[in-house]
Amino acid sequence: MRIFVTGASGWIGSAVVPELIGAGHRVIGLARSDASAAALTAAGAQVHRGTLDDLDVLRDGAEASDGVIHLAFKHDLAFSGNFQGAADADRRAVETFGEALAGSEKPLLIASGLLGVAPGHVATERDGHGSHAAVAAFGGGPQARWETAEFALALASRGVRSSIVRLSPTNHGDGDNGFMATLVGIARAKGVSGYIGDGANRWPAVHRLDSAHLFRLAVEKAPAGSTLHAAAEEGVPIRDVAEAIGRHLDVPVVSVAPEDAGEHFTWLGGFLGLDAPASSTLTRELLGWEPTQPGLIEDLDQGHYFNG
Ligand SMILES: NC(=O)c1ccc[n+]([C@@H]2O[C@H](COP(=O)([O-])OP(=O)(O)OC[C@H]3O[C@@H](n4cnc5c(N)ncnc54)[C@H](OP(=O)(O)O)[C@@H]3O)[C@@H](O)[C@H]2O)c1
Repeated sequence: MRIFVTGASGWIGSAVVPELIGAGHRVIGLARSDASAAALTAAGAQVHRGTLDDLDVLRDGAEASDGVIHLAFKHDLAFSGNFQGAADADRRAVETFGEALAGSEKPLLIASGLLGVAPGHVATERDGHGSHAAVAAFGGGPQARWETAEFALALASRGVRSSIVRLSPTNHGDGDNGFMATLVGIARAKGVSGYIGDGANRWPAVHRLDSAHLFRLAVEKAPAGSTLHAAAEEGVPIRDVAEAIGRHLDVPVVSVAPEDAGEHFTWLGGFLGLDAPASSTLTRELLGWEPTQPGLIEDLDQGHYFNG
């Protein structure tokens, strides 16, 4: 297949590209800068220059392909206080892909997230559709993004083989700059490795290479309207994560009171205390996905998060 990948130069995209090429597919990657274009060329992808705001570029990329994997997101905007703006741009991009692919039965994969899908129980692929109450608690931007994922699924009724991939909040691995790296940085700066309350709350986790494999299987064969879970581990207690970090940095492991989480963990404080276990049983059964990479604690124990 010839697959148009947005966010192909990002953390997950840069694992998806070799996964696709290695399986014999051709990749056209969206690149907004010379640096990203060079990285894509080096990875063996064809470059399609433009940004998420260039809707004609997105339409051309989709129409010229056998399917789309949409991973780009304006994290720079979202994490500098304008999540709504990032979510709005994302919505326009997905609408553009929907129009371009309508009636083609070509695949369209959208990245989504697992935090907040089913508070209080283990989230399955059947959860989280219809009610946005939990996600609404994160604010308008995350809720808008959630609605975009639902919109993408509904494109199945317009002849698009659309699916959403709900990613674990940590796609860990060597080179990670996300939640885990942030947590390590906070522990290093504060001289203590913290968790919130008793730290028994759990996060699902996946290695980014296992996520990349799931994206490939999904673009090849996920039925229209599939919700897929990129969760290799159902729930890793955050206290275990804090203990692993404490071990490697040789700092005390401490509980942080929920009311102090914002001060201690800054923006991460709003997420770290969530209990969000998630199953991927249905995803594994549907696609034959079997994660093979190290789990989160084993990955932390490999030491690469602590080399900086
Ligand atoms: N990483 C995780 O653990 C995780 C967890 C849950 C959900 N997700 C979601 O999974 C997707 C991929 O995440 P990631 O971690 O790979 O993100 P990332 O490393 O931040 O990569 C973002 C990608 O989007 C591109 N991009 C950003 N703004 C753009 C714009 N205005 N125009 C064109 N391209 C633009 C970036 O291009 P440049 O390389 O040029 O900057 C980069 O390729 C995102 O939707 C993310 O929210 C990730």
